[in-house]
Amino acid sequence: MSRSKESSGRTGRGWWARTRDRFQRSLRAARDRRAAAAIAWVADDSEGLRRRKYDSYEQYLALQRSKLETLQPEWLERYDRRYHAALAERLRQSGAVVPGSSALCLAARVGTEVRSFLDLGCFAVGIDLNPGPNNRYVLVGDFHEIQFPDASADVVFTNSLDHAFDFDRLITEILRVLRPGGRLILEVVDGEEGEGSSGMYEAAQWRRVDDLLALFTRRGFAIESQTPFQSPWKGVHVVMSR
Ligand SMILES: C[S@@+](CC[C@H](N)C(=O)[O-])C[C@H]1O[C@@H](n2cnc3c(N)ncnc32)[C@H](O)[C@@H]1O
Repeated sequence: MSRSKESSGRTGRGWWARTRDRFQRSLRAARDRRAAAAIAWVADDSEGLRRRKYDSYEQYLALQRSKLETLQPEWLERYDRRYHAALAERLRQSGAVVPGSSALCLAARVGTEVRSFLDLGCFAVGIDLNPGPNNRYVLVGDFHEIQFPDASADVVFTNSLDHAFDFDRLITEILRVLRPGGRLILEVVDGEEGEGSSGMYEAAQWRRVDDLLALFTRRGFAIESQTPFQSPWKGVHVVMSR
């Protein structure tokens, strides 16, 4: 291949647009990192938990919404592929989800977990503060104020508890939309005693997964199973019923 042909692919509009997009995403991430660094962590009322002390709810919402536009598309595609397959397999193995049941996925971003539930034959939909444009699987919504009616979901799923501003409000909403006898399925990152996570968008942290689960058992949830997993991050798959 001639030298000029080799380089022509790299000088097309597509390459420049991608490079500019990558640069802009890095700049937004740097801006958010600075904003998050200025927000202190404070102990929560609940044992073993702490949360970010935002100036206002609007500041929390703005930071959470901003995350999608900082992610590099290649990273997101790779994560989407891996998490979609891994979660579908964990759901199959747990046997906690019946085909034909309705599943609501909270904080589902581009819909990765929604597609795992669809694979299992569920009627599934997600909500997220920022589902991006033209999302077929996820509607705009705040999990502290879910737009769906009481007792309308057989299953509620989330892997984003570390993004909660107010656990009391979130659990009240989960209890409201989950039908009696329904299941809550959580995937939670290890606590700080394990691998932990304290990126710039996390709003809450726990020392041990049990500290977090205590919030749910106190509100009447029973733990059916807890299964550690490694991919695409290290955490615990928890099945609860109410
Ligand atoms: C770590 S990402 C996980 C996304 C998705 N569950 C996945 O695994 O691909 C956290 C997500 O939580 C969303 N989020 C944060 N706070 C939220 C809220 N109050 N209501 C709904 N979504 C929220 C963010 O927009 C972001 O998409």
